[in-house]
Amino acid sequence: MTGSQKEALRARLEFYRDLGVDELYRRNTPLADARGSEAPAPRRDRERAVTASPESSALPSLSPSGDTLDLIRADIGEDCKRCRLCEQRSRIVFGVGNEKARLVFVGEGPGADEDAQGIPFVGRAGQLLTQMIENTAAKEGIPIKRADVYICNVVKCRPPENRTPLPDEMEICGQFLFRQLMAIRPAAICALGSTAAKALLATKEGVTRLRGRWHKWRDIPLIVTYHPSYLLRPYNQDAKREAWEDLKKVLHAVYD
Ligand code: URA
Repeated sequence: MTGSQKEALRARLEFYRDLGVDELYRRNTPLADARGSEAPAPRRDRERAVTASPESSALPSLSPSGDTLDLIRADIGEDCKRCRLCEQRSRIVFGVGNEKARLVFVGEGPGADEDAQGIPFVGRAGQLLTQMIENTAAKEGIPIKRADVYICNVVKCRPPENRTPLPDEMEICGQFLFRQLMAIRPAAICALGSTAAKALLATKEGVTRLRGRWHKWRDIPLIVTYHPSYLLRPYNQDAKREAWEDLKKVLHAVYD
């Protein structure tokens, strides 16, 4: 394989990793068969994505050119049935805030209040998030309000009983989250809690290990911090202090 083929293959694998696809199975192509390739037999039962020969096709675009939040919302549709979360949701909760935001917060999925209103982070956790953003910004002399940032979730429909979204739900809805992020292209992303961190960093590590340092989603700097629902629980003084530190760090990086 030549250097440029390796580079194309690497880019393709990164693309699938960003989509949350971490298992790839190789299918014999007519060309490989003719060469007597030793590639393993196809596993069609589990096949999720197939590596094409690196030069055979351009990378599919994660963010169609000219993509906008309105187009992404329209693509989701009014009655999305791509996964089982449609069965019990009242409303699709797409996202809220400034389409040109320099900072995007990503949570896990809508809760009961969000499901009823169609707006992310409006319940108790949402009120805490709003306070954290506005109070920290004010204390640090940064003139922003909640409406200046953009807030969305990994999954757009409420999981029953507020359970954690399942991997296939995150993968299906993740394509819309990634398009939102690519359309906004913020200066930084703040992942709230381990589900958002998992979706954006393809990691199994928890928040405690991930927080406090910079990561990247594609080429965008990303900070992980505790989910506001976790901070609402009693006896979390240390986590609260750490979350304020994370927030200060990301606000200064973006707005200084
Ligand atoms: N928790 C989330 O992760 N998202 C919301 O929108 C509300 C609560």
